[in-house]
Amino acid sequence: MTQKFFTVAPMMDWTDRHCRAFHRVMSRRARLYTEMVTTGAVIFGPRERLLGFSDAEHPVAVQLGGSNPEELAKAARICAEFGYDEINLNVGCPSDRVQNGRFGACLMQEPVLVGECVAAMKAAVSLPVTVKCRIGVDDQDTEEALDRLTDCVVTAGCDELTVHARKAWLKGLSPKENRDIPPLDYNRVYRLKAARPDLPIAINGGIKTWAEIHEHLKHVDGVMLGRIAYHEPEILLGVDRELYGEEPPVADGFEAVEAYESYIAAQLEKGERLSNITRHMLGLFTGRPGARAFRRHLATEAVKPGANLQTLRDAVAHVSRGFALDTAAE
Ligand SMILES: Cc1cc2nc3c(=O)[nH]c(=O)nc-3n(C[C@H](O)[C@H](O)[C@H](O)COP(=O)(O)O)c2cc1C
Repeated sequence: MTQKFFTVAPMMDWTDRHCRAFHRVMSRRARLYTEMVTTGAVIFGPRERLLGFSDAEHPVAVQLGGSNPEELAKAARICAEFGYDEINLNVGCPSDRVQNGRFGACLMQEPVLVGECVAAMKAAVSLPVTVKCRIGVDDQDTEEALDRLTDCVVTAGCDELTVHARKAWLKGLSPKENRDIPPLDYNRVYRLKAARPDLPIAINGGIKTWAEIHEHLKHVDGVMLGRIAYHEPEILLGVDRELYGEEPPVADGFEAVEAYESYIAAQLEKGERLSNITRHMLGLFTGRPGARAFRRHLATEAVKPGANLQTLRDAVAHVSRGFALDTAAE
């Protein structure tokens, strides 16, 4: 049996390096994704700020947005030099900004071009090149659209496909609505996997519990979690145990904070503001008595000049410790 895998979704403004370093303290095994970075930004922008990350984050994939094969190849090479473990192409983002640039979800309509993009990146780097897509856009027939895209990227050498199991509607819905309103069709992704036994396929969209994860993994190779991993990060404590039979690196949220302290201290030392780091921790302790006070403390205190590790410890002190969260299957 092939090893099942777990990834945390690329999320703009959310999965920055601090967020990923925080998620990493809860699982050695989860694969983490950057926010989408456009090829233009990679090639012409402030690279260290856009692409820099810490060694502790591995395994980490960079997600690129673009549709010009040469630019994608160039950007992939730069990302490989930065030390990323995987290059992922965004074929799922529906925002207007992205549609104007002719990339993201609208590329579902240009599968041949997507294949050329993947081929160019494969030729440029020796890393795995992967794609994240939807099941279709607008009035596309999802059987045809997803099969066709898969054909093109597999021929080009794509190493893995993650499918957000709903369409994107390119007109009339905001990106946020496009993550909730088009209906989920998990069976479409299961059928793709059945037809493509050799292609590693991960499923994404609306997955919230370990029970659901285990159910999906009966049909596909991997699961990608987005919002729930961000809003209730303690779910990540299940990854190493549930999928690899290994003890998680920390037992609970309290230990996660302790394990993260040295990273925070190093970042504060470099002049980073505490709130830029702790904003990703607000969902920690969800469901425990005191979680709200923890959030409120961070929201008001971590933004103040001079906020430091003690500010975080004071926030954690609001949370009741005598309450075990069950991160295993429900
Ligand atoms: C704030 C936010 C930003 C996102 N940014 C990206 C992105 O940069 N690239 C991408 O492929 N998907 C992006 N997504 C979509 C997620 O990767 C994921 O496909 C979607 O949230 C569905 O998974 P979920 O139901 O587990 O959250 C974003 C989602 C959110 C909530």
